[in-house]
Amino acid sequence: MAHILLLNGPNLNLLGAREPDVYGSDSLDNIEMRLQEQAGELGHSIVAYQSNSESDLVDRIQQAAIANMDFAICNLGAFTHTSVAIRDALLGTSLPFIEVHISNVYAREEFRHHSYISDIAVGCIVGLGTFGYDLALAAIDQHLNAGK
Ligand code: DQA
Repeated sequence: MAHILLLNGPNLNLLGAREPDVYGSDSLDNIEMRLQEQAGELGHSIVAYQSNSESDLVDRIQQAAIANMDFAICNLGAFTHTSVAIRDALLGTSLPFIEVHISNVYAREEFRHHSYISDIAVGCIVGLGTFGYDLALAAIDQHLNAGK
């Protein structure tokens, strides 16, 4: 059984209402509930956390490591493209994670093409809508089972 952190960054609390043409109509509550259900079926547990604050996200990553959580699914929103502090938290804790973006960031503005965390992620899922979170969970399950 793995303990997984589902971490969402700024403005992802607005999913469902925010730019639905880009991000779809799924709310964050729906995604979190769906993932928790799927994790339960796979024998894992998920703790979901969203914050608009960079320092809260850093704190949550540090806490996850202290609590010996096994993996994270991270959509850092705009902090993906700006935050050395969150990169350092992920590096400093060695928390393995999958990076998720709902939209295809490479088909958008150039400033979204660079991620501070892609090179240290186990893998990245981009542009597949909110289904990307489901795929990340399936990939984590497979990754952990392969390591047994
Ligand atoms: C996003 C892409 C980011 O560029 C943007 O700032 C977001 C959402 C995505 O899921 O597609 O807030 O991470």
